[in-house]
Amino acid sequence: MTIDEAQTRFESTAGESGDDVNDESLRLRVVEAVDVSDCVRGFRLAAEDGTALPAWEPGSHLDLVLPSGLIRQYSLCGDPADGSAYEIAVLREPESRGGSIELHASVQVGDVLVARDRRNHFELRPAPSYLFVAGGVGITPILPMIRAAADQGATWRLVYGGRSRSSMAFVERVTGFGAESVDIVAHDERGLPDLAAEVAATNPDALIYACGPEGLLRALEDVCAEAGRSSSLHFERFGASSEPVEAGDNTSFEVVLERTGTTVHVTEDVTILEAVRGVLPDAPASCEEGFCGTCETRVLGGVPEHRDSVLSDEEREANETMMICVGRSCTPRLILDL
Ligand code: FES
Repeated sequence: MTIDEAQTRFESTAGESGDDVNDESLRLRVVEAVDVSDCVRGFRLAAEDGTALPAWEPGSHLDLVLPSGLIRQYSLCGDPADGSAYEIAVLREPESRGGSIELHASVQVGDVLVARDRRNHFELRPAPSYLFVAGGVGITPILPMIRAAADQGATWRLVYGGRSRSSMAFVERVTGFGAESVDIVAHDERGLPDLAAEVAATNPDALIYACGPEGLLRALEDVCAEAGRSSSLHFERFGASSEPVEAGDNTSFEVVLERTGTTVHVTEDVTILEAVRGVLPDAPASCEEGFCGTCETRVLGGVPEHRDSVLSDEEREANETMMICVGRSCTPRLILDL
């Protein structure tokens, strides 16, 4: 698929959905592509028409439609005050489902990519102090959080783990925010970070923000639970939780696609996304495992059963949106803004 075909397909999908969670698209030109570690490549993306880009907050990410048509999510890691370009950093993952290899191997300066507008399920909440924990390329959403914390005069500490120093992106940048507040824990030099000690040394009123591999997040969850700090912990996953998602037995139900003006039947053995694609073949999705947020859809009626690892507890209770790749319905009928 060419870039233009991907663009056409994406805009057609967005037009059908009209969903203000998902439908704003941007054409972004790659204005810089440089290696920022031995396995991470950084990209700066400016509006193709040269206009200022929409504002964003720390924790936001872009859904990028790659030339192949794959949709992948990348955290914005630059300065929110810089409206001239978005910055992302991409880990080269030979075992991945193709997005990172495509960006590393074939996307170059001058190329145009289509992006949805930024979304944020990893907001930085106000606090007098923060403990940031990053593993590998998980440093990307943490970078603008550190900038914001420093700007607000909050105290902060970053524990940044990685396979080796040469694999770790943005070490100089994070130490530039305050070297005394940063602990670089390269695995080949020092092993794994002592998360229990870090949490124990953190102020009781501090919030803890983390992003990184599943093993790191699971360990941090356990440490915070033992320390009675679970409510302080906020994190973003790269992949599906290895914890089984709480899920009742599947039942069948109906989904009304309000704007399309049709109803689909979701049987026990298909997902809402699969049923929706029978009517809207280009309904956007990426991970199809409930962790990326690409398929987020507004709920207009009925009660969804959330099975994703994107929404916070508050967002689940609000029932305003759901991830239709994994979510189901608690009611015989769901009405979606599709
Ligand atoms: S496609 Fe990733 S959360 Fe649904």
